[in-house]
Parts: sequence; C-alpha cells; structure tokens
Amino acid sequence: MTEAQETPLQLQLDAEAATLALGAALARSLPRAAPEALVVYLQGDLGSGKTTLARALLHALGVSGTVRSPSYTLVESYELAGLLVLHLDLYRLREPGELEQLALRDQLRAGVLLLVEWPERAPELLPAADLNIELVIATAEGAIPQLSRTAGLRAPSPAGRLWLAELEARHPENRSELNRLVL
Ligand SMILES: Nc1ncnc2c1ncn2[C@@H]1O[C@H](COP(=O)(O)OP(=O)(O)O)[C@@H](O)[C@H]1O
Ligand SMILES: [Mg+2]
Repeated sequence: MTEAQETPLQLQLDAEAATLALGAALARSLPRAAPEALVVYLQGDLGSGKTTLARALLHALGVSGTVRSPSYTLVESYELAGLLVLHLDLYRLREPGELEQLALRDQLRAGVLLLVEWPERAPELLPAADLNIELVIATAEGAIPQLSRTAGLRAPSPAGRLWLAELEARHPENRSELNRLVL
C-alpha cells in the first residue's frame, strides 16, 4: 500500500447524509470503461462509516435490496447490469486461507468492482488499490452527541485518478484542502 500518491482529496462529512452522498457521488463517477477490475480500499476505525459508504455506493449503482455488512460472511456479491461488485470485510479474518478460498484473483477482470473493508488485515493477499478511502472519526471537543467524519481519498493508479478526476469535475467546489462535501 505504498504506491506513489497524489495529494489526497480531503472531505468533511458532517453527518451520515454526507457519507451517503459521497457513496452516491462515487457511483456516478465510476470509470465504466476501466480495462481491469477496480479496487477500493476502505480504511478507518470500527464505526467510521466504511459499510455506510459501501452501502450508499451499492444502492446508487442499482442494488435495490438490503446491503448486508460482510463482517461475518467475509464477502457479499452483487450482480448488476454490466458490473459485478464484491464487497469484502476482512476484520474477522483469522487466517489467510479463508481469503485464498475465495479465489479472488480469478474473479478480477474488467467489469468487477472490489470494495474491501480492513484491507490492512491481508495486504499481501489483495490486489493493489485504485482508490484508497480513509475515514476518520472527528476528535470530540466537549460532549458532541454525533461525531462527524473526514474522508481522505487517494488514487494510486491511473484508473483511480480518472475516478477522482471525474468526481472533482462534477463537484469542483470540493477541490480545496479540506472541504465540506457539497453534492
Ligand atoms: N459523516 C458521518 N457523521 C456522523 N456519523 C456517521 C457519518 N457517517 C456514518 N456515520 C454513522 O457511523 C456509523 C458507521 O457505521 P459503519 O458504517 O458500520 O462503520 P464501519 O463499517 O466503518 O465499521 C453508523 O452508525 C453511521 O450512521
Ligand atoms: Mg463495516
């Protein structure tokens, strides 16, 4: 996970709605003609919003039913028109064999989107990320009932850079150093 990195796009997500909006915006800007599978790493503490973001992305891509957290099943998959989405959560991964059984690499091809929560649990078993999203729970100053989040988005690959460029082109107001998400 140490690819050459550009300055991350930093977004402030004031409430859950902003996390949902980011998921939807990522779906709209997804590079559909990518020549290989697209790989997104979702990082951040428990409860930082990784599944919330994945859910919003999946719903915006057209998943109509429930999007379950894959924390117990390891993977949930979704067949959409022209797109297969594999949503992984490696938090409970006990040994590499569990992931190897999924034969992930055999499934990676153009038209596949791989979303991985807790990629740091098995970095050597995963394909490199095109997009790396890090969610951080804001530090509390006093008694704040619901803490906001920040999202840092980095694109270590050409496909990821295309994706972020499209996101930013659609939402130029989000381009500055640390911005609220305006969608
Ligand atoms: N931007 C936000 N501000 C405040 N709360 C948020 C925000 N985004 C998500 N949440 C809340 O934080 C929790 C995140 O849970 P979840 O998505 O399961 O986290 P993770 O998958 O990272 O463990 C949910 O209760 C969700 O409503
Ligand atoms: Mg989760």
